[in-house]
Amino acid sequence: MLPISSTDRVFILCGAGVSAESGIPTFRGVGGVWRNYRIEEVASPYAWQRDPRLVWEFYSMRRKVASAAKANPAHFVLAKLEQTLGERLFLCTQNVDNLHEKAGSCRVIHMHGELFKSRCDTCHRPPFDDSHLYEPPAEIPRCPCGGQIRPHICWFGEVPFGLNQIYAALDECTIFMAIGTSGVVEPAASFVAHVRGRARTIYVGPEHPANASSFTECHLGNAGQVLPRLFGP
Ligand code: APR
Repeated sequence: MLPISSTDRVFILCGAGVSAESGIPTFRGVGGVWRNYRIEEVASPYAWQRDPRLVWEFYSMRRKVASAAKANPAHFVLAKLEQTLGERLFLCTQNVDNLHEKAGSCRVIHMHGELFKSRCDTCHRPPFDDSHLYEPPAEIPRCPCGGQIRPHICWFGEVPFGLNQIYAALDECTIFMAIGTSGVVEPAASFVAHVRGRARTIYVGPEHPANASSFTECHLGNAGQVLPRLFGP
């Protein structure tokens, strides 16, 4: 078990590995999403300009996979941790699925956006819930302003969501844990370097991430098995 004192503040950074045991493919490695799709063709502002139908087809496919997926023990342990620690837990995920919410987590920062939300690519209308499958759309859905409705996703080349809140939480944390993330995509890959020397830094996943040298501890194994051991079932 991981000792957490009443003054500790815990920052958790999740990556695709947290949802792997729910059947949602990771991005890199064997069976990874980027083995079958090119990032610049489906997940960039350039892709959206060039072929928005292909972009919607890609995100509709991912909506379909995610809506059939169930939360796994890793999500449930983190939801329970929120109940125990309350505000002293900051849960930041790079995942765009809603499995943390399905497990009962209420305060999740989705720094790369949310698969089941869309927004206008032109006006500042807030993002809205949308689980529609456009596969492939005959017409790209339109906003009343005339703009096109796009997935509420942080694409490559765009600025992640919630960075002010994230860096404030990093500055305050005493325990930093990254789970199931390969440590190659910025800025998330550098969060551990931001807190290093000040906070206990722990990695959980089946293999060492690219930024392993920045962690003081690596617990090798699947999140669904390691997290119940660290935090209790
Ligand atoms: N439990 C924990 N970790 C796992 C598991 C598991 N069951 N299965 C795989 N992993 C680990 C892999 O070892 C790998 O290190 O999950 C990591 C997944 O890495 P990536 O596919 O690179 O995913 P991630 O780091 O979340 O990617 C970051 O890149 O493409 C973008 O926007 C996308 O949010 C994503 C970002």
